[in-house]
Amino acid sequence: MNKWTTNELRANYLKFFESKNHKIISSSSLIPENDPSVLFTTAGMHPLVPYLLGEKHPEGKRLTDVQKCIRTSDIDEVGDSSHLTFFEMLGNWSLGDYFKEDSIKYSYEFLTSPDYLGIPKDKLYFSVFAGDDMAPKDEESYNIWLSLGVEKDHISFLPKENNFWILGSGIGPCGPDTEIFYDTGKEKCSENCSVACDCGKYLEIWNNVFMEYYRDEKGNLSKLSQQNVDTGMGLERTVQVLNGYSSVYDIEEFVNIKSYLENVSHLKYDDYKESFRIIMDHMRAATFILGDDHNVKPSNVGAGYVLRRLIRRTIRHLRKLNINEYILGSLASIYIEDYKSKYDELERNKDIILNELELEYNKFSKTLKDGERLFYKTIRSLNGKVISGADAFKLFDTFGFPLEMTIELAKENNLEVDIDGFDKCFKEHQDKSRTLDAGSYKGGLADHSEMTIKYHTACHLLLAALREFYGSDVYQKGSNITSERLRFDFNLDHKLTDEEKKRIEDRVNEMIKTNSDVICEEMPYEEAVKSGAIGSFANKYGETVKVYSVGNLSKEICGGPHVLNTKEMGKFKIVKEESSSAGIRRIKAVLE
Ligand code: SER
Repeated sequence: MNKWTTNELRANYLKFFESKNHKIISSSSLIPENDPSVLFTTAGMHPLVPYLLGEKHPEGKRLTDVQKCIRTSDIDEVGDSSHLTFFEMLGNWSLGDYFKEDSIKYSYEFLTSPDYLGIPKDKLYFSVFAGDDMAPKDEESYNIWLSLGVEKDHISFLPKENNFWILGSGIGPCGPDTEIFYDTGKEKCSENCSVACDCGKYLEIWNNVFMEYYRDEKGNLSKLSQQNVDTGMGLERTVQVLNGYSSVYDIEEFVNIKSYLENVSHLKYDDYKESFRIIMDHMRAATFILGDDHNVKPSNVGAGYVLRRLIRRTIRHLRKLNINEYILGSLASIYIEDYKSKYDELERNKDIILNELELEYNKFSKTLKDGERLFYKTIRSLNGKVISGADAFKLFDTFGFPLEMTIELAKENNLEVDIDGFDKCFKEHQDKSRTLDAGSYKGGLADHSEMTIKYHTACHLLLAALREFYGSDVYQKGSNITSERLRFDFNLDHKLTDEEKKRIEDRVNEMIKTNSDVICEEMPYEEAVKSGAIGSFANKYGETVKVYSVGNLSKEICGGPHVLNTKEMGKFKIVKEESSSAGIRRIKAVLE
């Protein structure tokens, strides 16, 4: 059987959809711009939500891409043969253009044509939406599959748990989907074995979502202004399935890292699969998170917390393989080398990646030492044989000492740990940090209300004023805008004095008072840059971009929306200025 590589599948997929008049767009950031309710981009649709809702995409109505994604809901499953936290999602998009018929035809052609994947037709199975009281049975997709020659017994109608797709938050554009499965050739697990069964006979390789609804907070569906198509094919998993590999870690993306680990540890992957896989997966995810242009650093909340966990878990599993010396930098360098031609941000942010890994390694080494000391202090005052969940959580939360280490040391001392109690404390903490996170720096606009839009334009004027005073090396490093206030991060080497704040405030108000029109133009990215438009997030733009100009005061590459004239904005007032992280300042401001 012909073996596929991820590079081949990626290239083939994009080529196919390009031949169907789709524009290739580059991957957006791993940190969502438009959705403060989640920590990471979990699916290709995340960055495209505004366009599914009707905003015009600068590249047109047919797009195709490979989107970097992180899903951490199953992080504890990593180590088995299939789970990954970081993965790439191939997608093709119709933004109010073609719908079910072409979407299904394209998929079938790509999968079965000898010019593309050439999968024998009898290996493919399909599911379609069975309908419920909210949305009707998808007879149309069923009939389209039949019209292509698919046998009836290769198609199943399944309920919304299987065949209706929406982002994890449960709010946003959504719709019924049709999923495509590959028959691995294994025996059926029972007479009733079907694509709905997770015995491993049928593996899902592609999901075509027909996004024509919007689901609100109350769970009600309404029709969107346009019918969209969102398809997603997990790159790594599909290559695994097509090649008949028993594990996703057998694909070529992991070859170099695996052999490096075998060399350093003098151990074989086959004998220590779990630790090898955790290290391979977590280091790839950590490298991509640190390599993103969003400045996420290891910390105790939000995305920084996930990053910390990925790095620390890697270190623990390296210790299990008896690797105690510092090799995180070498592991990350292997991934940077392997991926830099596709994701140039990894090379651009290489110093940050390597520095942060080393800093975190040093912190964690100290934590392990301190943690052991505190562990013994805790057990000295223990009544009985069980370390309480609260104590184990305190070691973890306050001192960063991992639960597994507490369990290990407890065993050595003939003690037990109340793991359920720990889980309870952990969950409470997570709920708290999720709430905090929803209101903290995520970048982007919380909504498109009138007030939020005013704050968005105020951000542009603020950046223009900052650059007037501190030079054109000042860039936006993030923003969070709600209808109540704006928060704006930028690079600057010092804390602002009261005089400086006043000067900036005055200048922004002066700009507002010019009653300048805000104009939006679309142009190729190169031209936008040549014309002097500022683009703070260089890797995220498509070939054609929108440029917003505020009179001759400000010119930025931006997706919008903005006010039409600055006279709508009111009076700008800085309420706080503080450090956001090293070299990055944060201004909080309101319009009165
Ligand atoms: N949004 C769908 C998914 O993630 C299809 O892209 O599976």
